[in-house]
Amino acid sequence: MQPRHFLSLCDLKREELTALIQSASDLKLRYRQGHQNTSLAGAVLAMIFEKSSTRTRVSFEAGMAQLGGSALFLSPNDTQLGRGEPIPDTARVISSMVDIVMIRTFHQADIELFAEYSSVPVINALSDDYHPCQLLADLQTYSEHRGSITGKTVAWIGDGNNMCQSWINASTLLDFNLNIACPEGYDPSGELLERAGSRVSLNRQPAAAIDGADLVTTDVFASMGQEAEQKLRLKKFKGFCVNHMLMSTAADDALFMHCLPAHRGEEVSAELLEDSAISVVWDEAENRLHAQKALMLFLLNRR
Ligand code: CP
Ligand code: NVA
Repeated sequence: MQPRHFLSLCDLKREELTALIQSASDLKLRYRQGHQNTSLAGAVLAMIFEKSSTRTRVSFEAGMAQLGGSALFLSPNDTQLGRGEPIPDTARVISSMVDIVMIRTFHQADIELFAEYSSVPVINALSDDYHPCQLLADLQTYSEHRGSITGKTVAWIGDGNNMCQSWINASTLLDFNLNIACPEGYDPSGELLERAGSRVSLNRQPAAAIDGADLVTTDVFASMGQEAEQKLRLKKFKGFCVNHMLMSTAADDALFMHCLPAHRGEEVSAELLEDSAISVVWDEAENRLHAQKALMLFLLNRR
């Protein structure tokens, strides 16, 4: 049987995504009540990281341990992948020894190539194009605070990056409006926008995108791999710092999210990030743990 992969949110049907979010919240509750779930006893997760991480590494590793399994951290400094061993060879070897693999790397095509040769499920733990694991946690967080996101309006402010593109995928799957505000030259993929249709709008003014939004979200101006552009981007993204003033035209009960790490004073003001009446960033980060536990159980067909 072909393994089930999670390379972008589009690998899930709408009902599967909704069930996954619910299962993440259920797992969280049971974990907090002290119930043990060792459904993945003996299972091994290989974690391939070609970029830095705090949340993703800790949540996958801790999540696997809590489910009775174990996780291997593999950096390019330690594996032959870093010395040029082809991805198809690495995928066949690693997947013959472990039960599930997660990869954080630059090119989406590399994760897809790995998955093509892997005999076990492969999870995209961030590429230049998508960050679907973060979206699972974000959707779980919205649902826990405000209920269903279907029919609501989300505002994306800033770079048309991997997070923005995952929000586009989510809007199609869960049928909500997405207002994107990016400076010119930093738009998400035109093809993705076209496929999403009228649900997703693109403009240049953060205030216009935020007007009436139920959720406002942003991310760093320069993602991992774009460090050399940081100075230029600071100039180009002037006016894109989400703060209390910009949030004032959002819906009365609007939430603020950020996948973290955050650069205070750049894409978000320190005051807004720390305003627990609006900002749910710490819940969002914690939910990475529960959402990914639900994801691994789903991909491995366990409960
Ligand atoms: N949000 C997120 O993926 O964080 P890390 O880079 O710390 O894993
Ligand atoms: N867009 C950011 C997300 C980090 C979690 C990056 O790719 O660096």
